[in-house]
Amino acid sequence: MLFRKSSLLAAVLSILFPSMGISAPIDAPEIPPRYSGEAQKLADPTYGPIPGESDLYNYYWGTGRPFPGNISDPIFPTRHGPPGPDDWTWQNLLSAEWLIFEFYQQGIEAFSPQDFVKAGMPNTTYRRLMEIRNNEAGHLRIFQNQISPTSIKPGRCQYRFPFTEPVGYLALMTVLEISSMAFLTGLVQQPTISFGKGAMLAIAEVETRHEAWALIDIWKTSPFGGPADTIFPFANEILDSTNAFIIPGSCPPENPEFPHPRQKLPGLTAGKNTASLVPGSNIKLEFPDPKNQPRFDLYKQYYAVFFHGVLNVSVEIDTKGFPGREIWVTIPKGFETKGVIVALIADVWGAPGKESVVAGPAVILEQPSRLATALLKNGGN
Ligand SMILES: *[C@@H]1O[C@H](CO)[C@@H](O)[C@H](O)[C@H]1NC(C)=O
Ligand SMILES: *[C@@H]1O[C@H](CO)[C@@H](O)[C@H](O)[C@H]1NC(C)=O
Ligand SMILES: *[C@@H]1O[C@H](CO)[C@@H](O)[C@H](O)[C@H]1NC(C)=O
Repeated sequence: MLFRKSSLLAAVLSILFPSMGISAPIDAPEIPPRYSGEAQKLADPTYGPIPGESDLYNYYWGTGRPFPGNISDPIFPTRHGPPGPDDWTWQNLLSAEWLIFEFYQQGIEAFSPQDFVKAGMPNTTYRRLMEIRNNEAGHLRIFQNQISPTSIKPGRCQYRFPFTEPVGYLALMTVLEISSMAFLTGLVQQPTISFGKGAMLAIAEVETRHEAWALIDIWKTSPFGGPADTIFPFANEILDSTNAFIIPGSCPPENPEFPHPRQKLPGLTAGKNTASLVPGSNIKLEFPDPKNQPRFDLYKQYYAVFFHGVLNVSVEIDTKGFPGREIWVTIPKGFETKGVIVALIADVWGAPGKESVVAGPAVILEQPSRLATALLKNGGN
C-alpha cells in the first residue's frame, strides 16, 4: 500500500487524537482503473444541479437518466478520518434509493405515454412518473451529500423488477411507495443528528405524495390511509427484502454491505393462490427462497406479528411439522382496510427487538386491497 505524505499525517493524527475526528484531505483517492473518475466530481456537494434549487428534479422530460442517476460509479472518500455517526444509515438509504430510482427509470424506458392511456389510465400518467423519477434523482443527490467525505457513497447496481405491462407496473409502484413510507418510519429512528431525522421525514412526505397521486388518479380511490400510516421499527429488514430485485453480483464491489447490518432472514409471503389479504383472511405462510428457509424449534411458541398504524398484534402460529405441514394464520380482523399491514414471524410476543424476528417481513398492501392478491400472482409481493 502506498502512503502519500498527507495520508500518513492523517493516520498519525488519528492515532494521536482518535476522538477529535481528524479528517485530512486525500490528495487523490485511489480509484480502481475500471472507473472513469467522473463520479469523483460528485464528492463536492455543490457540483451539478442542487435539489431544491434546480428544476431538473421536477420538470426534466427526457427519457435518459437525469443527474446524478446518469453517473453510476461509487464516490470514493476524499478525506481520511472516522466515518460520520450516521453514515451507515445514509449509505443504506442511498443504496435503496438507487433501486427506487431505477424502478422509475425502467418504467419510463419500457413504456410510452400511449401505453398507459391504452391501459385506461389518465393521459398525465407518464408525465407524473417522470416527475416522480426526477424527485427520486433529487433523493439520490440529497443522500450522497448526507454521507460524510470519509465514507464511500455507494454506486448503482443492476435491478430486475417483476413487471411486464403498465397496470402491473403501477401496482408494483404502489407497493414500493408505501413500503418506503413504512421503512422510513423505522429508519428515522436511527440518525443521531436531529437534522437527519427531519430530512428523512421530508423524504417520507414526498413518497406519501407519490402514493396519494396513485390512489386518486390511477386507482380512483380515497387518498387517505387512516389516522396513522404504519410504523415498522426494523427498517433494515424491509431494505433487506429488496435485495430480491438486485441482480446478484451486479453491484460495484466497493459498495458497502446492503443493508448494514443485515440479518438475511428468510423472506415471507402468502401462498400464491390466496384469494384475499384483507383483515380477517386466513392465509398460508410461505417462504419463497428455497435456499433460505426458517428453522422452527419444536418446543418454542412462534407468533405472526402484524404491524398496522401505530399498533402491532401477535397471533400464535403452529409450526410443528413444518415444512411437511403448512402454516396458516388469520390476519387480525380488527384492522381497518387502509394503507399497509407489515407481517413477520417472531419467537417473542410483540417482536420487541429485531433479534426476535425469524422470518419476514412481508408488506401486505391493503389499499387498494385487490392489488395485493394480483401482485402475489405476479410474484411482486
Ligand atoms: C450527467 O448529467 C449532467 C447534468 O445534466 C451532465 O452535465 C453530465 O455530463 C452527465 N454525465 C454523463 C456521464 O452522462
Ligand atoms: C387529457 O385528458 C383530459 C381529460 O381526460 C383532456 O381534457 C385532455 O384534452 C387530454 N389531453 C391530451 C393531450 O390528450
Ligand atoms: C408491539 O406492541 C407491544 C405492546 O402491545 C409492545 O410491547 C412491543 O414493543 C411492540 N413491538 C414493536 C416492535 O414495536
